[in-house]
Amino acid sequence: MPFDVNSLENHWMPFSANREFKANPRLVVKSEGMYCWDYKGGKLIDGSSGLFCCPAGHGRTEIAEAVYKQMLENDYTPHFQLGHPGSFELAERISRILPDPFNHVFFVNSGSESVETAMKIVMAYHRARGQSQRLRFVSRERAYHGVNMGGVSLAGMVKNRESFPVTLPNIVTMRHTMTPEQAFTKGQPLTGVEMADDLTRICETYGGSTIAAVFIEPIAGSTGTIVPPIGYLERVREICDEHDILLVFDEVITGFGRTGQAFASQTYGVTPDIITMAKALTNGAIPMGAVAVRDEIYETVTNASPDNAIEFFHGYTYSAHPAACAAGIATQKIYEEDGLFQRAHDMSDYFLDAVWSLKDHPLVADLRGFGMMAGIEINHDGVGGRRGTQLQKDMFWNGLHVKFTGDNAILAPAFVAERSHIDEIVDKFRKTLDQHL
Ligand SMILES: Cc1ncc(COP(=O)(O)O)c(C=O)c1O
Repeated sequence: MPFDVNSLENHWMPFSANREFKANPRLVVKSEGMYCWDYKGGKLIDGSSGLFCCPAGHGRTEIAEAVYKQMLENDYTPHFQLGHPGSFELAERISRILPDPFNHVFFVNSGSESVETAMKIVMAYHRARGQSQRLRFVSRERAYHGVNMGGVSLAGMVKNRESFPVTLPNIVTMRHTMTPEQAFTKGQPLTGVEMADDLTRICETYGGSTIAAVFIEPIAGSTGTIVPPIGYLERVREICDEHDILLVFDEVITGFGRTGQAFASQTYGVTPDIITMAKALTNGAIPMGAVAVRDEIYETVTNASPDNAIEFFHGYTYSAHPAACAAGIATQKIYEEDGLFQRAHDMSDYFLDAVWSLKDHPLVADLRGFGMMAGIEINHDGVGGRRGTQLQKDMFWNGLHVKFTGDNAILAPAFVAERSHIDEIVDKFRKTLDQHL
């Protein structure tokens, strides 16, 4: 299936080696279920659900039809002082699967926007309750919170911030939780809970009453799957409570079943104050993100304004776009009717065992995993990230799509995967590693 474009030059591609890609393009022209096809006719199995977006598999007709129908009925309604029914239905559906007491959802268009929005909600909340002195945000080393300026300021992955020296002030970072003795731990590490006490030290240094919120990915995803040590999230929650600090879980990857329950918050039994989400919200079919808040946050912000006044000065032209809402509703129906979160839970052991079969491969430096998500760290070849980048390309031509960050591969198959699909993903991974020996 040759591609029908005159030039690859005009599109400046994101997070890509543009010159190399355009010389040897890895173009996908079709996707269905667990598979994609490249323009030369090669068939690839999708080992990472795209970018962790498509738990229900590619090409779901229910989603496509819902979007098509919506586009014919009502293609666009602005959401400033106006609305359409879809956003309310979707918010209600998401509230149903969120932990208590989360019953309010603010829609955005991406994970990055969900992070910026969460930061603003935090500020609006503290202002509404007379705590405007809380100006400081806490995040963690190796964190990824998207690419807008708030998220970059919170980020702890060096490549995502070193070109952008002007970031927000007043951001302090805790350590990440990965330590050498945790190597090859399947599930939650037994060691490392004490790293939560970094937050206490930050409170002692800056004053807990100056800190607005702590941003945490329950599992740090983009950096290569860093699973929280047992007791760690609980301890962070306790310290936040001691100092009246808001806890934000960035569930852009972990939301919608990746850990075996709807949200990692439920899997780990720790309830934050704000949850960001995106990606699997629409099964990746239409861009959409969202921020869910505890009732008290919504009520505090809205009740602080005079009657009939806009309470929160924030929103995007495409917030709650009708097409995205239609895709979101259709996706949530699939998750519910097909029991996909339970399926993710049930398939996790098989998936992680299959990944752990790579443990003794000479190029494998570490394995980490939880639910339907696993990090495979490859020994670098002297230059960090070089081998991982080459492996990702070679895997593509060997029929496997995997997301790599540097030398870390992140496997996250769709929840519709059969055991045979998982075997195929791991076999192709191993075969490509072997070619690099
Ligand atoms: C935890 C987390 N937050 C935010 C984002 C940014 O999402 P997006 O790329 O949709 O802007 C990502 C993307 O991978 C993420 O993993």
